[in-house]
Amino acid sequence: MVAKKPRIVIIGAGVAGLTAANKLYTASGSKDVFELCVVEGGSRIGGRINTSEFGGDRIEMGATWIHGIGGSPVHKIAQEIHALESEQPWECMDGSSEDPTRATTFAEGGFELNPPLVEPVSTVFKYLMDCAQGKKNLAEEAPTISASNGTPARNLSVGSFLRQGLDAYWASRKNQDEELIGYGNWTRKSLEEAVFAMHESTQRTYTSAGDLQALDYSAESEYVMFPGEEITIAKGYLSIIEALASVLPPGLIQLGRKVTRIEWRPESYDMENGYHGSSSRPVKLHFLDGSVMLADHVIVTVSLGVLKAGIQQDSGMFNPPLPCFKTEAISRLGFGVVNKLFLQLSPTSHHRISQGFNKFPFLQMAFHREDSEFRQKKIPWWMRRTASLFPIYENSSVLLSWFAGEEALELESLNDEQIINGVSATVSSFLTKSQTTDNFNSHELCNGNSFEGNCGVTFAKVLKSQWGSDPLFLGSYSYVAVGSSGDDLDKMAEPLPRFNGCESSSSSSPPLQILFAGEATHRTHYSTTHGAYFSGLREANRLLQHYSCVGV
Ligand SMILES: Cc1cc2nc3c(=O)[nH]c(=O)nc-3n(C[C@H](O)[C@H](O)[C@H](O)COP(=O)(O)OP(=O)(O)OC[C@H]3O[C@@H](n4cnc5c(N)ncnc54)[C@H](O)[C@@H]3O)c2cc1C
Ligand SMILES: *[C@@H]1O[C@H](CO)[C@@H](O)[C@H](O)[C@H]1NC(C)=O
Ligand SMILES: *[C@@H]1O[C@H](CO)[C@@H](O)[C@H](O)[C@H]1NC(C)=O
Ligand SMILES: *[C@@H]1O[C@H](CO)[C@@H](O)[C@H](O)[C@H]1NC(C)=O
Ligand SMILES: *[C@@H]1O[C@H](CO)[C@@H](O)[C@H](O)[C@H]1NC(C)=O
Repeated sequence: MVAKKPRIVIIGAGVAGLTAANKLYTASGSKDVFELCVVEGGSRIGGRINTSEFGGDRIEMGATWIHGIGGSPVHKIAQEIHALESEQPWECMDGSSEDPTRATTFAEGGFELNPPLVEPVSTVFKYLMDCAQGKKNLAEEAPTISASNGTPARNLSVGSFLRQGLDAYWASRKNQDEELIGYGNWTRKSLEEAVFAMHESTQRTYTSAGDLQALDYSAESEYVMFPGEEITIAKGYLSIIEALASVLPPGLIQLGRKVTRIEWRPESYDMENGYHGSSSRPVKLHFLDGSVMLADHVIVTVSLGVLKAGIQQDSGMFNPPLPCFKTEAISRLGFGVVNKLFLQLSPTSHHRISQGFNKFPFLQMAFHREDSEFRQKKIPWWMRRTASLFPIYENSSVLLSWFAGEEALELESLNDEQIINGVSATVSSFLTKSQTTDNFNSHELCNGNSFEGNCGVTFAKVLKSQWGSDPLFLGSYSYVAVGSSGDDLDKMAEPLPRFNGCESSSSSSPPLQILFAGEATHRTHYSTTHGAYFSGLREANRLLQHYSCVGV
């Protein structure tokens, strides 16, 4: 009998899948140890990395930043392949909020806010987030703001922690808060709340938690950030993907191969069925086109959103179903929707803005509350939790906003005209000089007699990402929801069947049939490309060690 090479099938050609393939292929001396393939349901590689072009500029529809260059494997690859420089303009964000001379906060109705009004409450917000992230010890440093005297209650959310902190800040102050302060109908308190809510909106896009009340407080401090600058990749995030894939022989990655069902053999099932004989490969993959493939091991890298859908009763992606410890972790963890919206200024308005005295600012937006009588009705609800709108680099005609939660999902359902109308109405409310204030200065783009009621800023076209409705993703990235914990991320990473090899009874059920990689399987770096990278490496090494090849 000819000894068969173990067949490893990797489901998904995103960062995790391609890192695993790269590692398995290179570490096993390229060909002789395994039969290896990557099956990808979509028509491109990259997954949640989706570098595109818009208005002549290179843009990212998905992963955008290297979150801290110190120790990041993604940064290391980017350096090695010289992807950090480019002749062509890209989404480099050089006018970002880091630069206080360009970031400007406006309040709804056309009021540019002076720094003394914005900074105190921004400092409070930053302070509270530092506490939540474990960078500061709340109980020691500010027992008065402490939401719970230093010992957070079980199930405390980041959202309620933040609001308790804001209330404590207000309580600690002399209160002339409810008086008008020369910004139309805004009071100091309502303005501060709006600025606070603006920072909350940004936090929603960072975490993908549509509602910060659903984001677990205790887990927040387990998340690990790399030190150093956060940068974007000049030649595009896709260059990382291409580098990982470049060592693989043609044909190893198969596109358009959507897996619909994964049959596997935990012990009990094997006893009764033996459907393809105990000597054959234990896992059977079914594809959308009706074809099947047998494997010894599959590494599942599909998103947490796809797994959530896959464990629904009617879906039955796994047969037999995944064990409870797995489905419970999948259900409890959070997976939110974050989308990016790109808008190109029309040539006339770009010309007018860039040639004129003013530039389109790095606009930060403080909105009236949804239930405020002073809110402007022409601004659609799905714009009201958008924190900012800004050019993707200095002088670019392309503007970018980030959306999260139900607003991000709504965006996916709107047509281009509805989006342009909604954004234009918002821009005109924020950047049209209010008659009643003299707090205005150089960032004024519009004046009372605005052009076509949209203050002269017109948009030529738009492009939005659609991570929520795309069936290959069903969301953007994962977070630890209230009711879940870091333990669930570890459970996500456990291979199946569980405990095989250590149990006395087991012999008939082959080990490591289903392995799990992907950002949602990394306890401390979840939601990132480097978390996905580490997870792919982890599962490749698990198999290499199993076959006594050397992993690292
Ligand atoms: C808008 C947005 C912004 C982001 N910004 C950043 C950022 O700035 N920095 C950062 O580090 N991270 C960011 N991320 C997160 C980062 O993109 C992801 O964490 C990472 O790319 C996930 O990689 P993965 O390999 O785990 O999963 P994926 O990239 O989702 O790969 C899984 C693959 O499986 C395929 N697949 C799904 N179902 C099937 C099936 N049934 N059969 C076959 N194939 C299937 C999918 O098509 C996909 O290609 C962002 C994500 C989004 C959406
Ligand atoms: C303040 O609110 C009142 C009542 O809604 C409205 O009529 C007025 O125009 C508002 N003033 C400003 C400056 O927005
Ligand atoms: C942006 O445009 C202005 C005016 O055209 C010009 O003076 C400036 O140098 C440009 N900045 C960059 C970074 O290109
Ligand atoms: C990926 O980018 C293309 C544009 O290049 C876009 O059409 C597609 O919708 C994007 N995918 C997602 C899921 O946003
Ligand atoms: C915590 O929240 C989860 C989900 O919302 C809920 O099921 C659980 O009962 C809560 N636990 C406590 C101790 O409140």
